[in-house]
Amino acid sequence: MLLVMYLVYALVLSIALRAKGLATPIAEGEPTPPSVERRVTRVLVIGATGGTGRQLVAQALERGYDVTALARNPAALDLTHPRLHVVRGNVLDPASLDEAARGQDAVLCALGHKKFFPPNRILSEGTRNLLRAMATQQVGRLVCETALGLGDSAGRGGLYYTFFVIPVILPAYFWDKTRQERLIAESRLEWIIVRPGSLTNGARRGRYRHGGSIGSFLWTVRISRADVADFMLNQLTDDTYLRLAPGVSW
Ligand SMILES: NC(=O)c1ccc[n+]([C@@H]2O[C@H](COP(=O)([O-])OP(=O)(O)OC[C@H]3O[C@@H](n4cnc5c(N)ncnc54)[C@H](OP(=O)(O)O)[C@@H]3O)[C@@H](O)[C@H]2O)c1
Repeated sequence: MLLVMYLVYALVLSIALRAKGLATPIAEGEPTPPSVERRVTRVLVIGATGGTGRQLVAQALERGYDVTALARNPAALDLTHPRLHVVRGNVLDPASLDEAARGQDAVLCALGHKKFFPPNRILSEGTRNLLRAMATQQVGRLVCETALGLGDSAGRGGLYYTFFVIPVILPAYFWDKTRQERLIAESRLEWIIVRPGSLTNGARRGRYRHGGSIGSFLWTVRISRADVADFMLNQLTDDTYLRLAPGVSW
């Protein structure tokens, strides 16, 4: 009986994540039209000291961008480069985001945390502050990493995620991610939400699948943080997924 109740709870959660989550692009008012010729030279990385964030910083520098990294503890980044500028800040502090966003052409966001309990709004409030700073500083494009299993990708993280990880460990986290995605979609920015499968610290392969039907209802699909960063960086200048939320996995 308990098992049945648990399975029903997990299924209802999955259905709610789909129903409340992002399915189709929503925008209030007229969205800013995509630039005819997109020129990006300066990028801001949010979550720069994290797994994906470090890859974003390193690969953005490799690609020749001027990189600003927002970090709560700049020493944790452990990287110096003539084109890397580090701003000490917190996404829950709007002033530091304003400073970091000034003069940027685009933002790459790989924000995450491990405060799964009790429920909090770090992702959504941090993203709300980021969107406000981007609007104030007239930064055009946001590429933001979320996760498979949200909105119209609900269930696509595979059975292990649908029936264990999300309902037991991450229900509040995924709920806040749902709010985060909706805030981004309601903004008038050029945005691309990137939903990876389970993340690994493996090497960059440069070959992976992406689009609307990524993931499996049965198996856990994976991708390295290095390849997610590669895909996110491609979104800076590619309009294929503009105002969409593609999944990405090996
Ligand atoms: N793990 C998976 O299998 C998986 C699968 C799909 C999607 N995702 C999602 O992908 C994203 C990136 O995951 P990841 O494991 O690569 O990242 P991560 O290592 O958890 O790094 C998260 C980053 O966010 C920063 N951060 C947290 N709170 C902050 C705040 N208040 N202000 C500023 N920065 C803050 C952290 O800074 P500090 O170093 O200061 O803590 C860190 O740099 C997350 O949203 C995660 O949920 C994960």
